[in-house]
Amino acid sequence: VVDIKGGPDEGLDRLGHTLTVTGWVRTVRVQSSITFIEINDGSCLSNMQCVVDSDAEGYDQVESGLISTGASIWVLGTIVESQGSKQKVELKVNKIVVVGKSDPSYPIQKKRVTREFLRTKAHLRPRTNTFGAVARVRNALAYATHKFFQENGFVWVSSPIITASDCEGAGEQFCVTTLIPSSRDAVDSNLDAIPKTKEGLIDWSQDFFGKPAFLTVSGQLNGETYATALSDVYTFGPTFRAENSHTSRHLSEFWMIEPELAFADLNDDMACATAYLQYVVRHVLENCKEDMDFFNTWIEKGIIERLSDVAEKDFVQLTYTDAIDLLLRANKKFEFPVKWGCDLQSEHERYITEEALGGLPVIVRDYPKEIKAFYMRKNDDGKTVAAMDMLVPRIGELIGGSQREERLEYLEERLDELKLNKDSYWWYLDLRRYGSVPHAGFGLGFERLVQFATGIENIKDVIPFPRTPGSAEF
Ligand code: 4AD
Ligand code: MG
Repeated sequence: VVDIKGGPDEGLDRLGHTLTVTGWVRTVRVQSSITFIEINDGSCLSNMQCVVDSDAEGYDQVESGLISTGASIWVLGTIVESQGSKQKVELKVNKIVVVGKSDPSYPIQKKRVTREFLRTKAHLRPRTNTFGAVARVRNALAYATHKFFQENGFVWVSSPIITASDCEGAGEQFCVTTLIPSSRDAVDSNLDAIPKTKEGLIDWSQDFFGKPAFLTVSGQLNGETYATALSDVYTFGPTFRAENSHTSRHLSEFWMIEPELAFADLNDDMACATAYLQYVVRHVLENCKEDMDFFNTWIEKGIIERLSDVAEKDFVQLTYTDAIDLLLRANKKFEFPVKWGCDLQSEHERYITEEALGGLPVIVRDYPKEIKAFYMRKNDDGKTVAAMDMLVPRIGELIGGSQREERLEYLEERLDELKLNKDSYWWYLDLRRYGSVPHAGFGLGFERLVQFATGIENIKDVIPFPRTPGSAEF
């Protein structure tokens, strides 16, 4: 099998080669004595044009209409120069075999169908140009992520999916339980049968883990345990949030990359986040040229130029206090009023990155402690914490990170202030009892990165099977 990848200009050096091609039929065009079949196997964006005439073995299958859009076929042929203008070479077919025919009800017949429609066909949408390209770029970003951290001496740590702790303390966890009937036949069963304590509360000691357990919202706390043993580590896995958000940048199940750096402060953290983002963007520009040209033409004009800037230029850094000043000075009426202490809303983030500071990622640091998680390190001003968010145009928050509170007394004080149960964090506090070190890390939402790198508008279109409130099909 000869590999011809990378667009319509490729393949001229293969003239005369005989090869077999397998894939799915995109289009069939019958023209008096010859038939053109475009097939695609997902390895690249371009289709292979197969030219079949009546001499070809298996021509009867073409004639009888067995080869239609969506069918899978096996073709043996010779690479010849193409008469058409769309490609340099095509396959002159010697033999063609239908592997699996496609029912006429195949739903992706038309060239252009909406992405909303395709969400209802998530099992077939990877066969379209857009979703094929997204899948390949997503894959390249995952590969580049591992490559970046591995080349820089980080150890990949698998953080658990089921956990008893709530890293973000936001109460947005999905509960994992066998007490409440979870098997499909039991969904209608009697909830009164759930074991209860004398007080009438659910008796968690009777449940599978002997206590309430949840799907993780973040692998950070587990990552910190390994960072305070192996120095620099990262996690890369699925995380879950039961937030009732219906936006184009929220999923209930998303993948997160969470590096954790030991003997490091917030400046090291911001430098790492910047170097990482620039590395993966460069990787995609260099290795996914055909797909990126497609996004540049069809999805977001100018995305290649914009990403090239991201890969090369410095990002602006400013404090939360300066960001608030910038918003207050903006000649603009925001839906959510701005004042020191407020959480930045998406409209604020967009104003900062798109209008005020010229289209590149921006890092905002030192947020008020009231709007950030318990584990962030208190700054000397007593009001802010060493947090940083990286904001990008269109999407808003791409990265959230911080230097962690490594001082036991401050951390305990903060848990008390927030009325969090100190006992359940005993192991996390132990890291501050035994050889505590300054350390910092961040979390990057992988789907938001895929949106950023492809220009795709809605987060539901950059993950194969999106999970959102009210939707868990496929
Ligand atoms: O800002 P977050 O909540 O930070 C954490 O979870 C920290 N524990 C990370 C760390 O320091 N190790 O989430 C981090 C990132 C966000 O910036 C965003 O990109 C993404 O995760 N994210 C989501 N992506 C898709 N859907 C959602 N519902 C998301 N919630 C957060
Ligand atoms: Mg955040």
